[in-house]
Amino acid sequence: VARPRVLSGIQPTAGSFHLGNYLGALRQWVTLQDTHDAFYCVVDLHAITVEQDPKTLRQNTRVSAAQLLALGIDPDHATLFVQSHVPEHAQLSWVLQCLTGFGEAGRMTQFKDKSARQEAQVGVGLFTYPILQAADILLYQAHHVPVGEDQRQHLELTRDLAQRFNSRYGRTFRLPEAYIPKDTAKIYDLQDPTSKMSKSVPSGVVELLEDPKRAAKKIRSAVTDTGREITYDPAAKAGVSNLLVIYSALTGRTVDDLVAAYEGKGYGDLKKDLGEVFTEFVTPVQDRVRQYLADPAELDKVLARGAERARDVAGRTLARVYDRVGF
Ligand code: ADP
Ligand code: NA
Repeated sequence: VARPRVLSGIQPTAGSFHLGNYLGALRQWVTLQDTHDAFYCVVDLHAITVEQDPKTLRQNTRVSAAQLLALGIDPDHATLFVQSHVPEHAQLSWVLQCLTGFGEAGRMTQFKDKSARQEAQVGVGLFTYPILQAADILLYQAHHVPVGEDQRQHLELTRDLAQRFNSRYGRTFRLPEAYIPKDTAKIYDLQDPTSKMSKSVPSGVVELLEDPKRAAKKIRSAVTDTGREITYDPAAKAGVSNLLVIYSALTGRTVDDLVAAYEGKGYGDLKKDLGEVFTEFVTPVQDRVRQYLADPAELDKVLARGAERARDVAGRTLARVYDRVGF
């Protein structure tokens, strides 16, 4: 029996992924490659919806791919590729744009948030971004798409477009389902534990590629409350609870177990230990990233192989689409 297919992408924008990306998404990518026919994509086309520096983008794309490999994506198990290496993404996106209502695209709330935050001129690409995302998914006939809350609306658009195309031209696309993997954790900013850790608010972000000593220091200076007791209470003790969630996710120990183990100890102990836990986790990851980046030919080979496998599937979908629309 063929395994269900899953598609997921991540932007290369920041170079280093952060702990939220890992514990909320990438860790699940590694698990999903065992149960699914997984297609994982570094979405560099999406990265130019905001102004970018070409050299930085090229480097960040490689660093992103190296991190995915270092975190455990196995290119013999999953198809790992760079979006721009597969021209079918842009090609299908155009066809889907012509099927999308202007008002429909305008209702995407992420566009409103992102364009409001942007100082430079807002490009049309930022507006049509969710349609490119729909193309990313539909090209691969994915059964499942792991989505966080902020992406639900985009998946709905994807399904609407697939349905519209199918009813106008005949069944062409599989309707993808949202997939909420087990063990995803939402990670909060260390300096503002009520908002999610995000690359757009750099102060309380722990990056996977930063010096572990610096990361440990950030963890030691994480905002906590004025109490003393280590308990899990996200409403009253957002900071401490966030640290417990991270600790639990990185070690596999339950939060209850940690709370029991830290009875009678202080926040300082928890933070110091978590700094060590993070360092232990991230040191071999960083070593592997360095190895991948030190061998550009090998990384190129892995990505070329991924792109070839991706194009094999994407090309077949696009050929059918082109035929159906009359090209
Ligand atoms: P950012 O918020 O830093 O811009 P992205 O939006 O690029 O991160 O997210 C990439 C992936 O990481 C998505 O699947 C998203 O749901 C997940 N993710 C991002 N931040 C967090 C977080 N703080 N906690 C859990 N998951 C997160
Ligand atoms: Na985001």
